[in-house]
Amino acid sequence: MDESSGPPVRPPRGPQVTEARGIVEQGPNPIQIRPAGAGDIEALLLIEQQCFNVYYYAFYTFDRKDFEFYLDDPETLFLTATVAGRIVGYVLGPVETWRSPPAAHIDSIAVLLEAQRSGVGSRLIESFFQEARRLGCELATLEVSPANEAGLAFFARYGFRKVHRLRNYYGKGLHGLLMAAPLERPGSTEGDGWDR
Ligand SMILES: CC(C)(COP(=O)(O)OP(=O)(O)OC[C@H]1O[C@@H](n2cnc3c(N)ncnc32)[C@H](O)[C@@H]1OP(=O)(O)O)[C@@H](O)C(=O)NCCC(=O)NCCS
Repeated sequence: MDESSGPPVRPPRGPQVTEARGIVEQGPNPIQIRPAGAGDIEALLLIEQQCFNVYYYAFYTFDRKDFEFYLDDPETLFLTATVAGRIVGYVLGPVETWRSPPAAHIDSIAVLLEAQRSGVGSRLIESFFQEARRLGCELATLEVSPANEAGLAFFARYGFRKVHRLRNYYGKGLHGLLMAAPLERPGSTEGDGWDR
């Protein structure tokens, strides 16, 4: 994303996304999911440089200001994945319960190259979905480049289907796809699964 356009301005936030901050998931799994904080920005920038250094995302890489915006935005759910204390991935996007139906939008998800295909992305998206459901969302949406084969395969696995093509979304001649996935309602026995 270039600095001049900046992230989109959204209406005032809905419910308790900030409550998600301070939650840390722990357990026997070596991949830990926790809310992002200001001290994570250097690690996040490294992931960004590694993961989006491709022609189709040349105009859509987050910089420090973008991450600061998301960290300050109470509507954004912003989670990191760490392994042995090192940040190896993140997911972020707004939880928009004022929409009809209430929806969460994944603005970005990325995993360090060396940590890919080891389940980190899955833990991140499952945690994002779980928290979005807890806050009342029934739908998840995102944009992705049709040239991003790994992204398409990953999102398909999590139930995302094409809604429509977004002409020149990533720059001139660089189209995007809007995708959506239903978020099943939590069963009566499902808690939010987070340790507080
Ligand atoms: C998309 C991305 C986040 C996936 O993260 P990950 O940690 O590698 O994902 P997981 O290991 O949890 O993979 C889960 C499943 O997704 C699918 N998948 C993930 N990467 C894939 C690839 N390169 N090719 C085909 N399928 C893939 C597979 O079904 C995989 O299961 P499997 O490993 O048992 O076959 C990662 O590839 C990435 O950071 N890409 C660059 C950034 C990006 O393009 N983000 C999406 C646009 S915002």
